[in-house]
Amino acid sequence: MRARACGKLILCGEHAVVYNHPAIALPLELYTTVEVEEGFGPLTVDHELWSPRHEIRMEEALDHLFPKGNAEIQIRSELPVGVGLGSSAALSVAVCRAIGLEGDALMEKALELENIFHGDASGLDIAVAARGEALWYVKGKPLQPVPLPPCAIVVLDSGTAGDTKVLVQSVADRYDQLEDTIEDIGALVHAARAVLEDPTSLGELLTENHGLLKQLGVSTPALDQLVDLALGAGAYGAKLSGAGGGGVVIALTDDPDHILKSAASAGVEAWLARSGS
Ligand code: PMV
Repeated sequence: MRARACGKLILCGEHAVVYNHPAIALPLELYTTVEVEEGFGPLTVDHELWSPRHEIRMEEALDHLFPKGNAEIQIRSELPVGVGLGSSAALSVAVCRAIGLEGDALMEKALELENIFHGDASGLDIAVAARGEALWYVKGKPLQPVPLPPCAIVVLDSGTAGDTKVLVQSVADRYDQLEDTIEDIGALVHAARAVLEDPTSLGELLTENHGLLKQLGVSTPALDQLVDLALGAGAYGAKLSGAGGGGVVIALTDDPDHILKSAASAGVEAWLARSGS
């Protein structure tokens, strides 16, 4: 059977969501497609794009799902790996769908797989990959659809990949020192929900969120520079999106071309994630 699932962008709330605060995430129109056929003998996986580190975790996840082997799996993905766009969640949901899981059973099994990639994942990525819509997400609570911001979103790529599992653990290890910052992120996400349809106010909150993620120690000089680049090119706001340590920055704007041109002249890869119309 063949199935697919989408990637995601975290608008705000990453890391704090692990500690039961809310986060808001949006679907991306980029997909991972998985085809599973019954096989005879050991599991075979045909894929591209996975880095050595992710490949080991992918093999572990698929061994978990197919303990007896006997399957031939083909994975094709439009999502880059390890940059905070939800590639492992899209894979986890797509492969569970491809073996016929649905509803709560799909969510539960996909989260088990995602935990192999991410350690103790919040489930946010899985929720968006499975639902394909913008969500207000609190661990263990019913999912709440939210409106998409009525402006464009540009993604700027730092060109390096962070390791979500390592970053989530590094925050956990320093939780006592970081608790106030995590609380501040939670409060900021509540404030963001109230202004989702007002790009100016939302943008300011996103830039503030980046500052708080910096305080958590999950940003990098390259990500900070991309935030500055986007703001310098007129963005309403910009922040790292995902676990950090590399990966991408998102920028809200009504003039995506301006940001894309600035990025191109700085030699930064950037693309329009949502047109906003
Ligand atoms: O998968 P990423 O890199 O987009 O980040 C996941 C977001 C975290 O909040 C850091 C972890 C989680 O499980 O929610």
